[in-house]
Amino acid sequence: MKFSINTLNEIKDRIPVSQVVGKKVQLKKKGKEYVGLSPFNKERTPSFTVNDEKQFYHCFSTNNHGDIFTFLVEVGGLSFPEAVEKLAEEAGVQLQDLSPEEEEKFKKNKEVFNALDLSKSFFSSQIYETSNSFALKYLRGRGIDNQIIKEFDIGFASQGNQLEKFLLSKGISHEIMILAGLIIKNENNNNNFYDRFRNRIIFPIRDSRSRVVGFGGRVIKKEDQPKYLNSPETIVFHKGSILYNFSKVRPNIKEKDDLIVVEGYMDVVSLASNGFNASVAPLGTAITENQLNILWKENNNPVICFDGDRAGKAASFRVSELALRLIKPNKSLKFINLPDNLDPDDYIKNYGLENFKKLVNQAVPLTNLVWDSCMNVSDINTPEGRSGFESELRKKVNLIKDLSIKKHYGLIFKQYLDELFYKKNTVNSYNKNNFYKDNFVKKGFASSNLKTSILGSGGQLPSDLEALIISGVFLFPELVIKSFEKLELANFKNSKLKEISDNLLLFEKKDDNDLSVDLLKDYIKSNYQSFSEENLKFANKFWVNQKNKDFKEISKLWLEILSDDQHIKSLEKDIQDNKGKIDNEDDERRFIELIKDKDSSIRMIEEKYGKEENQ
Ligand code: UTP
Ligand code: MN
Repeated sequence: MKFSINTLNEIKDRIPVSQVVGKKVQLKKKGKEYVGLSPFNKERTPSFTVNDEKQFYHCFSTNNHGDIFTFLVEVGGLSFPEAVEKLAEEAGVQLQDLSPEEEEKFKKNKEVFNALDLSKSFFSSQIYETSNSFALKYLRGRGIDNQIIKEFDIGFASQGNQLEKFLLSKGISHEIMILAGLIIKNENNNNNFYDRFRNRIIFPIRDSRSRVVGFGGRVIKKEDQPKYLNSPETIVFHKGSILYNFSKVRPNIKEKDDLIVVEGYMDVVSLASNGFNASVAPLGTAITENQLNILWKENNNPVICFDGDRAGKAASFRVSELALRLIKPNKSLKFINLPDNLDPDDYIKNYGLENFKKLVNQAVPLTNLVWDSCMNVSDINTPEGRSGFESELRKKVNLIKDLSIKKHYGLIFKQYLDELFYKKNTVNSYNKNNFYKDNFVKKGFASSNLKTSILGSGGQLPSDLEALIISGVFLFPELVIKSFEKLELANFKNSKLKEISDNLLLFEKKDDNDLSVDLLKDYIKSNYQSFSEENLKFANKFWVNQKNKDFKEISKLWLEILSDDQHIKSLEKDIQDNKGKIDNEDDERRFIELIKDKDSSIRMIEEKYGKEENQ
């Protein structure tokens, strides 16, 4: 007798696992769970847990895992139908036979699962064949040992149609192989089939109940395409509702633990081989609503850790928008921004597990990511830009469906905005763990905050550069005379610095005398000395440090700063111009490229003028 999933779920909903288990095992309540001595193993300290909410038990010493039915099978000695009948009676649920269609579907599913499981074993055995030693060598080269190969059942699909032959020998029909997504019909000859996976490293993909439902296959040679081939959607494989490695992670994940979502199979495997076991990955598609809900069932704040390249950043951005629509009380996401285009695998190889864990601890909440991404497309030095920034934030808040969370997002952003625009020196506290850290920590609202905004003092670009330009002119007034046109072209955003530059140019223009340097010096001294001492301290220090250079060198440096300033501003303008025109993924990619460009330019500039001289 077979039972429909609905009936089984109904019984599970009515009978807590602790009630069934409690008849055999003495259980003690501990937080949300129960613990007790394992019925599978003789032990003195309890390693057996029961979770009623998640409807499972798990034994950490033997890895036995299951629900009320499997418990009666494994511990109570009943057959599966007997266990169902017993518990159905206890729950007062009427058992019905399956309809003929359900019966047929059930049979097909079972055969497909069987074919997939056989295939997994076949691929597994192939990885150790001497003819495939290059595949094993490749895995070794990426730091994957036999233990991990076994843990993840990593296999190999060789050339030719080996799987088809193998499965035929096991009595599996072509129909089932096709249903399982394992072979493909030859278009020209319908009686001819070929293996879907050939010459690829194979990663079996399991559903939440640990059954193999599909495969991902990776090429070994760079030039082969596509890099990954995945099983197609089948009657048992639904990409949008499965996460790679989820079934292995689930029983071990505790509320306080971090659950990390990475982009790829290799990231999961590599994290595990470095001792980090709680990562999962989507299957080559964008994260879905379904997947978010699966994650949220296990953990309130999963950490999104996509690749540090633009595609990864774009994917993080997309998840953040989806999450806003779906967040519920206590359920949110955190984000890690990996540096230098690295993926988690590269990161751990370069910096080690400890540093990766640090990144995880510093992951930024969704609120910050949203705030940062809006600020990234806004110029908050102008009233127009500020209002644009507010309207970007409002758009994001309007995505939130949960009314209570929506209200709180609104309140928090309002508070941030108040502090950013109306109070001094508080913005840095929001920028500390900034997702787009490199872009933002140094960016800000120049006019209200000049004193602390100078390079090397934790200041902000581009107003830092503007301060350097003016400070340079104050200390070396010849610059105005020599490079009058260049200064004229500088497009100051800081209103005070713009006013100073305008006045200096005006003073120069009015003065017909060729030897006006001394006059200019006097003018600067009488008008701006106190302003300079008070507001341009760090920039002045920068120039004082250059004092032993000759004027030619000073002039060259000053012109370079001017041109760096213009470069940043033109990138900012491009970002402004493009932000309203993102219609598809290509636009999004280009846009992220611009932001990256600005990001790295700023970093370069900081290196150039910020670091060594102004510590
Ligand atoms: P990556 O290219 O980042 O792969 O794609 P990876 O898993 O990190 O592997 P390595 O380190 O480069 O070897 C991330 C994920 O996107 C899907 C796969 O699920 C992959 O794991 N993908 C990628 C595809 O489905 N097809 C592709 O051609 C490429
Ligand atoms: Mn990758």
